[in-house]
Amino acid sequence: MGSRELYREAKELFPGGVNSPVRALVEPEPFYVADAQGPYLYTVDGEKLLDMVLGYGPLILGHRHPKVEEALREALRRGWLYGAPSPLEVELAKKILAHVKPGGMIRFVNTGTEATMTAIRLARGYTGRKLILKFDGNYHGSHDQVLVAAGSAAGELGIPSSSGVPREVASLTLVARYNDLHSVEEAFRRHGDEIAAVIVEPVAANMGVVPPLPGFLEGLRRVTRSHGALLIFDEVVTGFRISLGGAQKYYGVEADIVTLGKAIGGGMPIGAVAAERRIMEHLSPAGKVFNAGTFNAHPLAMAAGIASLEALEKELPRASEAMKEVVEALDEAASRAGIEYTINRVESMAQIFLGTSGPVENAEQARASNHRLYKRLHHYMRIQGVFIAPSQMEALFTSTAHTSRETELFQEAATRALKRALEP
Ligand SMILES: Cc1ncc(COP(=O)(O)O)c(C=O)c1O
Repeated sequence: MGSRELYREAKELFPGGVNSPVRALVEPEPFYVADAQGPYLYTVDGEKLLDMVLGYGPLILGHRHPKVEEALREALRRGWLYGAPSPLEVELAKKILAHVKPGGMIRFVNTGTEATMTAIRLARGYTGRKLILKFDGNYHGSHDQVLVAAGSAAGELGIPSSSGVPREVASLTLVARYNDLHSVEEAFRRHGDEIAAVIVEPVAANMGVVPPLPGFLEGLRRVTRSHGALLIFDEVVTGFRISLGGAQKYYGVEADIVTLGKAIGGGMPIGAVAAERRIMEHLSPAGKVFNAGTFNAHPLAMAAGIASLEALEKELPRASEAMKEVVEALDEAASRAGIEYTINRVESMAQIFLGTSGPVENAEQARASNHRLYKRLHHYMRIQGVFIAPSQMEALFTSTAHTSRETELFQEAATRALKRALEP
């Protein structure tokens, strides 16, 4: 069956035809994947696509890295669920903590959503406070506490961004402007002694890519510390991608709690919460903040994670070099096309904002770019054999499997696709 027929059936089976909304943004229908290898996806329709999405971040080594595949095969031979601990979780924990929170502790869960949900509950349990502060345009998964949009003013109590989230729940989340310390200070001036934690994407990856301005993360560190609130870095995307130590190492700012996911499982479902022992010991069964999961520390995710991190310790710089080449190619293609654009990049994550030449430093500026033109670019890139994220608000990623052959392919595709996208 081809993608069109599969999608026709899927629409009868799944709300909106898919199991995660962003997948439905690929038009006229999502392509169905038959196979994947290195930096390429192969669709059931016979297309070969250069993958710049990489599972929305996890596949920093590309598809089917031989070491990860070998580790998974080996793990499969020992069974894949025990309801009891395995040596693999001890090994992966030591590896992650050495880079992210030396001397600290970690809890493995199954998704980034569970990681941020647990981190927020932990921060509340630890501080005994109830409010949290997040940023407009930052995404932390699909649980109630973070499905919250800005209210009438920045730094004010939030309103639900999804039907089904009660107003009362949303009102426990304050929403400030990304890269705007004043809006954070204002929120703390009003609610300082009630705020348990500030949760932030240290590099925003869900409004395109938006890096922190110099002093922003440092300012969050200062403000939270002076009010007795915790600082949570949501490193589900940045962890082991922008550096082995994530954003904490990259920007030299230490968070109290770090949430991880995506890359640490090498493409298997995973999430994690890491912090110093004095905080982590509040989690059950050591402490009174509840967390549990049938699949927590799943042996296959642990095995893939260990193999991935070992490979990344050697290979990570290539992913960044590849994105540097991709961005140079985009820059050249866009300037040749004579359009206004802004490109933001941090290591192996980047996005081009079309129709704007000003800086893109927050969600409002990201939303103001030309989303229709971006969609056309996505469409024509696909025709040229390149899969870029279907939304201007997502990121482009490169992996260690993207060689100069792939970046050349990207350059040719971008030049042609931008030309077509701009045709009336
Ligand atoms: C920064 C960030 N945090 C959390 C999540 C949620 O992770 P998951 O989709 O694994 O639940 C995402 C997902 O894209 C993310 O980008």
